[in-house]
Amino acid sequence: MSRELTLFEAVLVMFLTLFHNSLGYFIPAGSVGIGFNGYFTLTNTTQHTHGQAFDSEPLSFTNSSTNLTTSFSINFFLAIVPEHNHQGSHGMAFVISPARGLPGASSDQYLGIFNETTNGKSSNNVIAIELDMHKDQEFGDIDDNHVGNNISDMRSVVSASAGYYDDEDGQFKNLSLISRNVMRLSIVYSQPDQQLNVTLFPAEIFVPPRKPLLSLNQDLSPYLLEEMYLGFTASTGSVGAVHYMIGWFIDGEISYPRLEFGKQPNLPPYPKKASHKTRTVLAICLTVSVIAAFIASWIGFVFYFRHKKVKEVLEEWEIQFGPHRFAYEELFNATKGFKEKQLLGRGGFGQVYKGTLPGSDSEIAVKRTSHDSRQGMREFLAEISTIGRLRHPNLVRLLGYCRHKEHLYLVYDFIPNGSLDKYLYSNNENQERLT
Ligand SMILES: *[C@@H]1O[C@H](CO)[C@@H](O)[C@H](O)[C@H]1NC(C)=O
Ligand SMILES: *[C@@H]1O[C@H](CO)[C@@H](O)[C@H](O)[C@H]1NC(C)=O
Ligand SMILES: *[C@@H]1O[C@H](CO)[C@@H](O)[C@H](O)[C@H]1NC(C)=O
Ligand SMILES: *[C@@H]1O[C@H](CO)[C@@H](O)[C@H](O)[C@H]1NC(C)=O
Ligand SMILES: *[C@@H]1O[C@H](CO)[C@@H](O)[C@H](O)[C@H]1NC(C)=O
Ligand SMILES: *[C@@H]1O[C@H](CO)[C@@H](O)[C@H](O)[C@H]1NC(C)=O
Ligand SMILES: *[C@@H]1O[C@H](CO)[C@@H](O)[C@H](O)[C@H]1NC(C)=O
Repeated sequence: MSRELTLFEAVLVMFLTLFHNSLGYFIPAGSVGIGFNGYFTLTNTTQHTHGQAFDSEPLSFTNSSTNLTTSFSINFFLAIVPEHNHQGSHGMAFVISPARGLPGASSDQYLGIFNETTNGKSSNNVIAIELDMHKDQEFGDIDDNHVGNNISDMRSVVSASAGYYDDEDGQFKNLSLISRNVMRLSIVYSQPDQQLNVTLFPAEIFVPPRKPLLSLNQDLSPYLLEEMYLGFTASTGSVGAVHYMIGWFIDGEISYPRLEFGKQPNLPPYPKKASHKTRTVLAICLTVSVIAAFIASWIGFVFYFRHKKVKEVLEEWEIQFGPHRFAYEELFNATKGFKEKQLLGRGGFGQVYKGTLPGSDSEIAVKRTSHDSRQGMREFLAEISTIGRLRHPNLVRLLGYCRHKEHLYLVYDFIPNGSLDKYLYSNNENQERLT
């Protein structure tokens, strides 16, 4: 890339040093972008827009000593990068105008030169060479890939399909204006012959082919005023295209200069339109929100059903007397999975396991009863409804309960030293009996 640019810049330097007339700078108008890569763009991605770039200094086509119109040669390099590979926009033009700029110009078929009312007026006095990528019936265009020439009018006096006559075999070679390749347009005017020749050819060919693409036999001296401005224009329609003006070379006489372009510069691809970007962003946002909504509703759905399940199990007493309800997992972890090692005792009601609640040191006793045994359920209800709300130093505190599958769980503070009935009814001699 940088190598290409270096070569390319060398070519540009050559251009500047060979200029007969001092070319100051371009006066851009409309959608012209001044590039620092050695070229500038006449249009951007905006639809139905036009751009103009005019030389800041006027040129004189009159020999001051003879007062006669001089012959001239103009060569410039251009490239067109279309939005769609096989469809052009409207096109670009090289103009010689009496004023620095063409006010009131329209886009689309007017190529940023004229407008509906100014088109065809002889007072325009504009000589235009158009590179037209759109077939406009109203101007009698021959096709959608042609080079034309007229003065003060968009209707071409002479026009031809884009291409060139190869010097080697004399064959006509087609050229696509929207190929993205750099092309050179050579315009030669001979005042003695009163003839204007236009040749379009690939930039890789350094010397203009001998046979021109267009030849207009007309005396241009009435149109070449004392001072004229050189400019470039381009326009887009409903389809976009970026028109590049890459470099130019002017001679005050007939010449067919050898201009070595070096390697083709890598023109950037057609920029993605902002609206495309916006559309992409919108599409992404929409997708994300749809997914989010889906996930949210799925979560809601799951919760609703889980809640419904819990509700089914919840009975009136639970709502009325329910102390803290433990998650089964909590109790499972606390009792190390209801391991036999944790078992404190066993009775008609079920089993009691010792455990430690995760995240605290407090020991608990978990009483597990069977849900389906009527006795178990009654006992469970009785314990919850009575002890559940009681707080007394001599009573074991009920911390909470849990229901899981067919089991009911009651969670108490753990009181060491075994069961009270041992102290009341023990037959063991060593055991101290309570009265
Ligand atoms: C293209 O050029 C027009 C006319 O100057 C301007 O209004 C618009 O903002 C430009 N668009 C972009 C994308 O640069
Ligand atoms: C103007 O014309 C004279 C006489 O034909 C010629 O010698 C001179 O070179 C011309 N000047 C330019 C700038 O072409
Ligand atoms: C050229 O034209 C100017 C004014 O238009 C005139 O003064 C001058 O004499 C003319 N010169 C010649 C050589 O005809
Ligand atoms: C055409 O251009 C002329 C000259 O600049 C201007 O006065 C006129 O308003 C323009 N007409 C339209 C339709 O744009
Ligand atoms: C431009 O084209 C129109 C229509 O074909 C024609 O009437 C007019 O004379 C041409 N202009 C010139 C300067 O040849
Ligand atoms: C050149 O283009 C013309 C018109 O589009 C077409 O008829 C012809 O076949 C093309 N020739 C080549 C060699 O592609
Ligand atoms: C225009 O091209 C023809 C060949 O088709 C050539 O004879 C003539 O000299 C050329 N004229 C100019 C001004 O280059």
